[in-house]
Amino acid sequence: MLLTISDVIDAAELARLRSLAAQARWESGLATAGPQAAVVKNNRQIAEDSPELEQMRRIVLNALYRNPLVMSAALPARILPPFFNRYGGRENAYGAHVDNAIRATAEGYVRADVSATLFLSDPADYDGGELVIHDTYAHHAVKLPAGSLVLYPCALVHEVTPVTRGERIACFMFMQSLVREAERRRLLFDMDMALIDLRARLGEADGSVLRLTGVYHNLLRLWACPT
Ligand code: NI
Repeated sequence: MLLTISDVIDAAELARLRSLAAQARWESGLATAGPQAAVVKNNRQIAEDSPELEQMRRIVLNALYRNPLVMSAALPARILPPFFNRYGGRENAYGAHVDNAIRATAEGYVRADVSATLFLSDPADYDGGELVIHDTYAHHAVKLPAGSLVLYPCALVHEVTPVTRGERIACFMFMQSLVREAERRRLLFDMDMALIDLRARLGEADGSVLRLTGVYHNLLRLWACPT
């Protein structure tokens, strides 16, 4: 499932992130690429030792954790520290690749189930730079307004097409979900959204709403692996 979510960060947060990004130290994206990705990766990203990075990560993580759609769709057990990347000039594309399934962190290994990209540049400010996600039946080209986010399963091949004018700055991150299987996350998300609609129409006290809410939580209890 691909899900786009608008206005994940507000205007003040976007302005702050842009200002910090302008001060940060950028390095070649090859610093964190695995052997397959290194062949096709041609972008820049904020260096781990850049002092602005911690505050930028905090802004993004706060925004994710307060967003009910992100929580419902991704059901994150852990969100890895976000990265920030930049495409433009001669370093302007990231060819088709898959992301590593397992990420090593200081606290141990984390399984990457859900990828998220938060767009920070205004789409009018650059040409190209679509995030193309290769799904089973179609390729989806995603280019969102600044402050909007796309969530998609890490299992999918994806790429960023060349930026031929201007500059595209974005933030991306990986999450380990409480529910490993994308199909199960999809079912839980659909049910959660339908329940929100039913509650609005029938009220919290409605007996059927209550029973279906119980089914949602019991499915989550069956499927969630919080490690
Ligand atoms: Ni990737």
